[in-house]
Amino acid sequence: MPYKQTKVVLNQCVADLSQLAMVVHQTHWYMRGSNFLKLHPLMDDWMADLNDQLDEISERLIAIDGAPYSTLKEMAEHTKIADEPGTFAKSIPERLTILARDYRYLADLYQQGIEVSGDEMDYSTQDIFIGFKTATEKRLWMIQAELDQAPQRNN
Ligand SMILES: [Fe+2]
Repeated sequence: MPYKQTKVVLNQCVADLSQLAMVVHQTHWYMRGSNFLKLHPLMDDWMADLNDQLDEISERLIAIDGAPYSTLKEMAEHTKIADEPGTFAKSIPERLTILARDYRYLADLYQQGIEVSGDEMDYSTQDIFIGFKTATEKRLWMIQAELDQAPQRNN
């Protein structure tokens, strides 16, 4: 079957992007503290970006004869991004630290996609993975800058 492993990574992205959008939505709803007025609307932008990536990844998967997960149950069963019930007790830096961890996971998953799609010579999908990895690493830099950290894995 052509692009077999590429399809596997694409569908992993479908589950994880769906889950991460939910985590960001929880952040949007449950954050309290300084910078709320700035960060609350920013989370809307981040959700929109994740949903755009989800749509492009899913449609690429269909274009190469795959079948994206499309129920909340499937997303929950396949995602590797953790979630937990909402609480107002978490500080904004704690929430950003969670998001940094999750966006790092996503950047690593895109890296895996770059490698697998390259091996299978699906360069069109590889192009998508490259662009999304670049965008995710930029977001990571910004989250870590807000946390007064260098733009790399350091926690
Ligand atoms: Fe809202």
